[in-house]
Amino acid sequence: MYRACIWAACAALALLCSSRAVLAWDAPPPWAFAVNPPGSKPIPDDGRPREIPGSAARFTLTQIRDLYHVPDWHPESHPTMPGIVANGPRERAFACGFCHLPNGQGRPENANLAGLPADYIVRQVADFKSGARRSSEGRHLPAALMTSVAEAATEDEVRVAAGYFAALKPRRWIRVVESETAPATHVAGWMLVADAPPAREPIAGRIVEMPEDLERTELRDADSGFVAYVPPGSVARGRGLTESSTAGVAQCTSCHGADLRGLGPVPGLAGRSPSYLVRQLYDMKRGSRRGAWWPLMEAPMAALTDEDIVAIAAYAASLAP
Ligand code: HEC
Ligand code: HEC
Repeated sequence: MYRACIWAACAALALLCSSRAVLAWDAPPPWAFAVNPPGSKPIPDDGRPREIPGSAARFTLTQIRDLYHVPDWHPESHPTMPGIVANGPRERAFACGFCHLPNGQGRPENANLAGLPADYIVRQVADFKSGARRSSEGRHLPAALMTSVAEAATEDEVRVAAGYFAALKPRRWIRVVESETAPATHVAGWMLVADAPPAREPIAGRIVEMPEDLERTELRDADSGFVAYVPPGSVARGRGLTESSTAGVAQCTSCHGADLRGLGPVPGLAGRSPSYLVRQLYDMKRGSRRGAWWPLMEAPMAALTDEDIVAIAAYAASLAP
């Protein structure tokens, strides 16, 4: 009887260890830190002006890929973009609106800035500049480019850009779908895109975030959002985790707001890219994001497993911003 108990305990322990091994990330999860395969090249510009639904604008592929001048398909849908948001000053720094989009909604490989506190935006750019904030995945070019913008932009330019993005109203941008399977994907343009012909594969504890309409996203249409496939049950589990508190540790909601829409100087998490959120929690936990306010996040994060991080990102993304 005694021996049987020991065997049962060992078997349970082995199971626990092996399931932890599956879930513990020993490197940045490649579906959140999507890296282009080496040697990938964009298709050449044939000079043909492109168009998209609901816009009278026309841009060639060269214009669409110009990091210094934002291709603005929907100028009527946001206030006039100031200085560096629309145009990289004398090609010294890239235009913020190119990556973060004119409406600030952002894409999975960068960040949604719409409605974030202006002081928070200024502080984050300073953290990129000082090196206190960088990506755990050295090959994640978009983050490296963000650092180069932070180094090149002046304090005034950053303040003006922060004021612009802070005043924008974030909108629903991600559709969250719980599923045992997700479309099979590969990386192109620093994000996951569906394989052709389409196939399905097990979700396997991942978040698979991809454009709703690849063609429109490739043309940088700021009106076309994303869908995120997440493991079954993760939204409810994430909700429980953000609302519960363990001994001596504040709930996520006590700082990020009851609905995770942000509170005072603390950034909102609701409706934001789940790949982005996973990258931040990974970076903050593993030490590559350590800005001045990081210590506030240290205790709440300490107990989170990688599986918890997936659930929280799925739940936050599913909320109205
Ligand atoms: C070349 C693309 C690119 C440009 C141009 C760019 N960014 Fe970023 N930005 C990024 C990426 C990528 C991230 C997310 C990095 C990560 O995932 O760790 C980011 C993150 C941020 C964040 C962090 C958001 C948060 O919630 O913490 C802020 C703030 C920001 N950018 C502001 C700006 C401002 C202001 C400008 C213009 C002066 C700008 N960015 C220009 C790519 C860019
Ligand atoms: C004591 C207050 C506090 C608590 C509790 C807290 N946070 Fe935070 N959180 C912050 C602050 C402040 C920041 C900004 C850190 C910085 O400036 O780099 C932040 C940043 C974040 C970010 C990055 C946001 C972005 O835009 O890049 C995520 C994701 C996050 N927190 C998730 C959580 C989760 C999940 C929990 C609960 C497990 C939690 N936080 C609990 C204060 C808190």
